[in-house]
Amino acid sequence: MNVNVKQLAAEKAVEYVLDGMKVGLGTGSTAYWAIRKLGERVREGLKITAVATSRASEEQARELGIPLVAFGDIDHLDLTIDGADELDKELQLIKGGGGALLREKIVASNSSRMIVVADESKAVGTLGKFPLPVEIVPFAWEWTVAEIAKLGCKPELRRNGEELYKTDNGNYIADSHFEAIESAPKLALDLQSIPGVVEHGLFIGIADIAIIGKNDGSIETIE
Ligand code: A5P
Repeated sequence: MNVNVKQLAAEKAVEYVLDGMKVGLGTGSTAYWAIRKLGERVREGLKITAVATSRASEEQARELGIPLVAFGDIDHLDLTIDGADELDKELQLIKGGGGALLREKIVASNSSRMIVVADESKAVGTLGKFPLPVEIVPFAWEWTVAEIAKLGCKPELRRNGEELYKTDNGNYIADSHFEAIESAPKLALDLQSIPGVVEHGLFIGIADIAIIGKNDGSIETIE
């Protein structure tokens, strides 16, 4: 069967969006489909306001006519829909493959609910095969990376061709190869305690629902 599984999951998640909601728009190739569907529903009369987690998503939303608001004009969101690079059964996530983890975490943490949308390749038993993105300040990045490595991984600074990749916030990303993360909560605390680390891509206790599109055309929901 030729199914676009990302689209399948994303469009299911958009069914949770109701009139009057304030919505957080995620980033990436799965969130793209959710934003597209939301644009369709807005054209059909759905009344929502939204904030975006990246310049790319903001631009997409603007082109589709989704009303965007300034962060200062609202104090919380009802729902955020975003993708993930990996997720486990406890709804712990690795995010940041697209580099937007800091904004994504701020937005999701200020939402009453977060729905993760993903294709089945993202659902794993143990997190860590996907290198964990860690956003770090450029100042003395060599030292910060050395501290991250002490946690048992191989960090690699993300590149954009010849240049070092910079996030929308002007920081670097250390893609940290752990292979298997035994305790995501412990690793999150360890990473937070390193000066120079701005944020990491572990989302723990943030996602409420996962909607997973499967290759056979079915959808699995984990709550
Ligand atoms: C962006 O920074 C990420 O957190 C994305 O949400 C994540 O990488 C999933 O992206 P895809 O839906 O493109 O796989």
